[in-house]
Amino acid sequence: MPTKYDQVLYPTSPRKEAHPERLATIAHLAGLETAPLGACRVLELGCGDGGNVIPIAWDYPGSRFVGVDLAELPLAAARKFSEQLGLSNIEFQQGDLTTWSAPGSEFDYILVHGVFSWVPPAVRAGILRICQQHLAPQGVAFISYNSLPGCYFRKFIWDMLRFHTRGIDDPEEKVASAREFAEKAIGALDDKGHPGVIRSELKELLERHESVVFHDDLAGINEPFYVEEFTALAQQHGLQYLGDADPVREHGLPYQVSTEDRGKERQYADFATARRFRETLLCREGLALAPSIELPRLLNLWVSSKAAPAPEQEDGTQTFTLAQDRSLSTNHPVAKALLLAAGKAWPEMIRANSLPLPGLDPAADLDCVVRLMMTGALEFRLEPPHVNGVSARPCASGLVRAQLALGKHDVTSQRHCFVNLGDEMARRLVALLDGTRDHTEIAAALVECMDSPNLREGLPEKLETSLRMLANLSLLTA
Ligand SMILES: C[S@@+](CC[C@H](N)C(=O)[O-])C[C@H]1O[C@@H](n2cnc3c(N)ncnc32)[C@H](O)[C@@H]1O
Repeated sequence: MPTKYDQVLYPTSPRKEAHPERLATIAHLAGLETAPLGACRVLELGCGDGGNVIPIAWDYPGSRFVGVDLAELPLAAARKFSEQLGLSNIEFQQGDLTTWSAPGSEFDYILVHGVFSWVPPAVRAGILRICQQHLAPQGVAFISYNSLPGCYFRKFIWDMLRFHTRGIDDPEEKVASAREFAEKAIGALDDKGHPGVIRSELKELLERHESVVFHDDLAGINEPFYVEEFTALAQQHGLQYLGDADPVREHGLPYQVSTEDRGKERQYADFATARRFRETLLCREGLALAPSIELPRLLNLWVSSKAAPAPEQEDGTQTFTLAQDRSLSTNHPVAKALLLAAGKAWPEMIRANSLPLPGLDPAADLDCVVRLMMTGALEFRLEPPHVNGVSARPCASGLVRAQLALGKHDVTSQRHCFVNLGDEMARRLVALLDGTRDHTEIAAALVECMDSPNLREGLPEKLETSLRMLANLSLLTA
């Protein structure tokens, strides 16, 4: 029977948090060594049209991938795309997670993004049962869900918009009506009765893709969980909390907890930050996990930073621009040195053991590194991505060129992020970057495909800027 996901396609995309590399890195920090990424087995539940799992399968031809979903239409799109890419290491199965199983199969990584909160309890139980039955002994499962208390504010909006649009069956009309109402509500809700967060949530909703509003915000089932509740459900299926794919910013806790109380600490952190989404990693109960991050384990990894420094101020404070329009100001000499060292190498990674740590007080070094990691200013990985700066003969990743050749404008970076190449010139440029041309040859080839003389003006400089931008987006491999 066709589902709502057959009626309106959900735009899936690569999510770096839901990449086995991220799972392996966090497992390593907890003392769990997982299967190597080049030879592992990955299962994605509720994979939709494969926007997350297909690029991973491309990157690791020696690994095996299975995607499962109930809806046929997105699965057909997933099969078509993976066939077009010539992938032979991935298969898609139609199945209901309530009952689906793969007798005799084991998976090193199980990914379930954007499903758990939007399905009935029997399907949630099915997801946890599949993890219990099919996770390898050292395997890691990723399950994302809407979380409390942050979603109380969002629930206000979901209830209001569902109330407003009840009785409208046509998806397009329903979304249009919800958006129109949200726009009016932004202007009408007063500050006395409503916290400002309601208005900012409404603004975010207006920026989301129509299909996402339909499936996520207007969904009949949309159940947020406290992390403590989620962890208890997982425990009923023989699974334990391993970590979170997006670091938990445990600042400003109004309550001191002992190291034995990690569960409580997590819950208090979510109260303190009004956390609204979690991407929790689980492993089998009984595995011994390190209670906290140890410096030697961190220094085994690779590190990078997108931090771009502004000039240092007189008092020694320096501001660094980070990813996603965020910034960080610090006068801590070690923090500044770490960000400068890792930021200089971007988009490439450096060995974490080459970071300029004073080494006089390992606890202070660890604290500084962990704080920078938790804010997302430093990114650690077990395996560096295959990326390059701008070389003499630049080369864009094979996947990106294949995606463009198939007429797609949304491509996948080497860091498993979604990049929209909406600009035709950018797409033409990337298509030329196959590693055979030097900069002069690329400029000449671009001129040939440009009709307007305006576009040709200042081309050599524009080309250098564009190449740097593509490298910064982690789209170049050589
Ligand atoms: C919101 S989409 C998320 C898709 C993708 N994982 C992502 O995050 O972009 C939820 C997916 O779960 C699938 N799904 C819902 N209920 C299911 C069930 N009972 N069995 C299998 N798949 C299901 C839907 O068909 C849909 O593709």
